[in-house]
Amino acid sequence: MSFASGETPSRAADSPFSSAFGSNATPLPLRSISADGAVAVATGIGELDRVLGGGLVAGSVTVLGGEPGVGKSTLVLQALASLAAQGRSSLLIAAEESGEQVRRRAERLGAAVDGCYLLATTDLDVVLSAAGQLEPSVLVVDSIQAVSDSACGSQAGSPSQVRECAGRLVRYAKSLGVATLLVGHVTKDGGLAGPRTLEHLVDTVLSFDGDRHQSLRLLSASKHRYGPTGELGLFEMTEMGLSGLVDPSALLLGDRRRGVAGSIAVPVLEGRRPLVIEVQGLVGPTTSGVPRRVAQGVVGGRLALLLAVLERRCHLALAASDVFVSTVGGLRVSEPAADLGIALALVSAVTGIAIGEEVVACGEVGLAGELRRVQAIERRLAEAARLGFRRAVVPQSAPEGPIELELLRAGTLLEAVRLLLGVVPAARSGLRTETGGGPELSGGRDVRTLVRTPPSLVS
Ligand code: TYD
Ligand code: MG
Repeated sequence: MSFASGETPSRAADSPFSSAFGSNATPLPLRSISADGAVAVATGIGELDRVLGGGLVAGSVTVLGGEPGVGKSTLVLQALASLAAQGRSSLLIAAEESGEQVRRRAERLGAAVDGCYLLATTDLDVVLSAAGQLEPSVLVVDSIQAVSDSACGSQAGSPSQVRECAGRLVRYAKSLGVATLLVGHVTKDGGLAGPRTLEHLVDTVLSFDGDRHQSLRLLSASKHRYGPTGELGLFEMTEMGLSGLVDPSALLLGDRRRGVAGSIAVPVLEGRRPLVIEVQGLVGPTTSGVPRRVAQGVVGGRLALLLAVLERRCHLALAASDVFVSTVGGLRVSEPAADLGIALALVSAVTGIAIGEEVVACGEVGLAGELRRVQAIERRLAEAARLGFRRAVVPQSAPEGPIELELLRAGTLLEAVRLLLGVVPAARSGLRTETGGGPELSGGRDVRTLVRTPPSLVS
């Protein structure tokens, strides 16, 4: 790789990326200051642009954080190739991989294109001098933990090195108006000097998540100076790199099995985007002294709360049961709107009664067992209807839904259980069938003898 001066593209040629950060010591009336420089330039990777609120802004600094192996290098390479196809030059600093490795990946992705320059180095002075010569539209440093400033003294990747290097890169980006992307590794617990220590220094913090063993990848912004933070980008990791998922339901619901107890579809909101996902519950007698509560994709505290409500308000005896809850596809759900779905999946698992595959459930569960309305329920229900769901269990106060959806309104979790599963509580003992006479139910019991009532609402 060379930086022969004849190859240096001129800044004027990349005019949409001209600086929004010209320094001026004289205060000016706010209204007289142009806001044109903050125009976002689309990368052409639709799901990335969605999260960025349009694209990259000249002079902005973005951290792309994620666990090792999630696909950060792949995403930036695809974005740079797409920008190059629009005639925008870029400089990729490979601080963790050799030039050959990056070239091989680029070929696999069809991203080995003109306009995309590569420099394999870990020396920040070399990075800044190369960037100064090349004047790219976009600079990517992969990763910020692997570069170091020799003047700083401490080891590469240490908090002070990461801060110092990022600080110098931010000053470079602002003074030359170069959109700069810093890749940063984070561990599951957010440890390691990385994106978290940089948050206040940069304009945008993106987080790239996903289970390495599954193909779904989620991109979201936790901080964004140039747009909203609520958007979610969805990708599938394929043999040919990351592919944007405009309609992710096939991946999220594709492997759903019919007639299995413990499963329910839940419309969740990721940013402003409604998605219908499958929530599964499994309950069985505990195999150790301390019952296990395992929540995958669901906040552990929320599961504990729902178990307490099920126990106290629905008389479901789970104290001696192992309880597992999981969202399918690797999606993490933290909003209370999924409460009702999680609780119903658990009751379905305990009773062995399958919930109809055409049913979705959506509502927050209060400590008194009451169901509460959730935000943007109309959008959630519209998405469920679009995907072909036909019935929705919702809080009593929910507004009218789409005409294709039959709404099953319930004031409490208990009512929802009765409506959907046809079982009613027997005080302090467990759930019984509506016809009565059924055995007591608890997570530790064999429930196959349960005689189900045939209410019209049970599938
Ligand atoms: P990578 O972008 O190197 O991750 P990160 O930079 O976040 O550490 O991607 C790593 C994983 O992605 C690796 O396990 C291989 C997989 N992968 C694919 O499945 N398809 C592809 O086309 C590419 C380039 C990578
Ligand atoms: Mg990488």
